[in-house]
Amino acid sequence: MSLLAIIGGTGLTSLDGLTIKEKRTVDTPFGQPSSELLVGEFQGHPVIFLPRHGQQHGIPPHKINYRANIWALKNQGVENILAVAAVGGIRDDMAPGVIAIPDQIIDYTYGREHSFFSDDFSSDKHIDFTYPYDENLRQQLISAAQQQAIACVKDGTYAAVQGPRLETAAEIRRLANDGCSMVGMTGMPEASLARELELAYASCAVSANWAAGLSDSEITMADIEQTVANGMSKIKQLLTQLIPSL
Ligand code: HPA
Repeated sequence: MSLLAIIGGTGLTSLDGLTIKEKRTVDTPFGQPSSELLVGEFQGHPVIFLPRHGQQHGIPPHKINYRANIWALKNQGVENILAVAAVGGIRDDMAPGVIAIPDQIIDYTYGREHSFFSDDFSSDKHIDFTYPYDENLRQQLISAAQQQAIACVKDGTYAAVQGPRLETAAEIRRLANDGCSMVGMTGMPEASLARELELAYASCAVSANWAAGLSDSEITMADIEQTVANGMSKIKQLLTQLIPSL
């Protein structure tokens, strides 16, 4: 059975149902991961959990050591990564509370360490990133959702933005024109780093709010956290179905 890691984001700094057996500190050539790896079992199946903002949610999106996180998981024998991420909804079907399994990414971030090969490059390090998410893992997520009767949007382009501020209304109009369905701050370079290390990576996005300018209400962190907390019960249900099937 291949080992699964779950990278949790806003609203998922711990995972209910995960029995933690060990908190493992992993040093990497790229520095420290966001936290110790929480190594344990979910319904009898081995799982590693990593809160990407740290256990106290103290690391902002642009300061996350994505390279250390992905390298540490690879080093521990992980083969599949499920990234859970809060997003702002842009496309009509991405209302707050909706779960989506994106199939494409546009990267608008800047200044992040985004390759393992920056200092050690050769032509074979140009990874194919046509389809940024692992299609097999995506389909398993979609079918786990269907079997649990959890409504989920089966595709969509994830706009990865720099943060930590939220967007302007004009920025969201531009992302919509670019074809983006949802916007979040952590999807890149996480996904491409996983591909560089040949890990299967897919994302489960929880819409926390309508993106800037798409609703009349102000976007507050309190509302985002509340909506994501509600969405997390669906994620847990989905994991219950997914993990034994991997
Ligand atoms: N924008 C960017 N990231 C987010 C948002 C948003 O509106 N909501 C949750 N994460």
